[in-house]
Amino acid sequence: MTTTDLPASLISTLPGHYYTDPTVFALEQARIFETMWFCAVRSADLPTPGKFRKVQVGRESVLVVRSRDGQLRAFLNICRHRGAQICTEDVGEVKRAFQCPYHAWTYDLEGKLIAAPNLTKMPDIDRVRYGLVPVHLREWLGYAWVSLAAEPPSFEHDVMGTITERLGDLESIDHYELDSLTVGRRITYDVKANWKLIVENFMECYHCATIHPELTEVLPEFADGYAAQFYVGHGAEFGEDVQGFTVDGSEGFDRLPGVAEDQDRRYYAITVRPTVFVNLVPDHVIFHRMFPVSADRTIVECDWLYTREVVQSGKDVSRSVELFHRVNEQDFEACERTQPAMSSRAYVNGGVLVPSEHHIGEFHDWLTQRLSH
Ligand code: FES
Ligand SMILES: [Fe+2]
Repeated sequence: MTTTDLPASLISTLPGHYYTDPTVFALEQARIFETMWFCAVRSADLPTPGKFRKVQVGRESVLVVRSRDGQLRAFLNICRHRGAQICTEDVGEVKRAFQCPYHAWTYDLEGKLIAAPNLTKMPDIDRVRYGLVPVHLREWLGYAWVSLAAEPPSFEHDVMGTITERLGDLESIDHYELDSLTVGRRITYDVKANWKLIVENFMECYHCATIHPELTEVLPEFADGYAAQFYVGHGAEFGEDVQGFTVDGSEGFDRLPGVAEDQDRRYYAITVRPTVFVNLVPDHVIFHRMFPVSADRTIVECDWLYTREVVQSGKDVSRSVELFHRVNEQDFEACERTQPAMSSRAYVNGGVLVPSEHHIGEFHDWLTQRLSH
């Protein structure tokens, strides 16, 4: 990344191979996804003991399960006997225990080894030591975040700190009471693009006027191309005639009960590295989780969260879902359009960032620094 021969308006992006090279992706798995706090599961998706979800975190398959005591726990999805995968389905429910399909070693919902053929003849086997390998788990904003690090980084610094940095304080997000909201709609996108292209795209609004007609109609300041999310505490204001954050600017739902006067009629976007985007509007929250699959493929799960009353009363959320669903489709199409260029000779040294995108350079610096040690 040489910036020496660039005019002052431009800085370099990462070179193309960062978005295609399996070696770079493997380093990202080891030094980012398997090290940081990784947002895995919506806690309410696992409401009762025995319900589980399998998620890929870096190179590891992780089981998140609701235990008997009501707590969520996470384990590596690997049998301690000869290493068979315990669960192959993405979601499911067990009654009391996980049983390995190979030789039937059986683990309770706290991960302890509770049964195995001939286990009583092997009294020297410690059932906790040969239990499932636990993974660190924290719940916040209604999601379970896991870290595979032996000693996880500070959740307060890395996750909560990012929100504080963006909003100016931590209380502002509490007003939306994310943990009490309900998923009104979930859409999963299979994006044929590197996860970093998706992050970079989310970080800038230079593209808003070109590809997001509906969004710029609702948030006129986005048409200028300046990403509101990089002014601390700033939320983009709804246009004068706009009644709600919906595809046609028509009325949404009642303001979430805790949302303050100065948060009303505003949209706040937050990037929580490495894989989460949070979008706050007065009557709902849109929460993206990315699951990077390979250098050129990323699964994005997007939740639209509303109050329980809105969801249970069967109110029509479609106009509000449609706005960000279109934004997602527009964004992901742009990322997919960009991905093939990453292996082109035109992009060997990367592309350039204009001034309203210069803050993406900080993401690149963060990334290269993480990969370098
Ligand atoms: S590998 Fe699981 S019981 Fe043998
Ligand atoms: Fe966008």
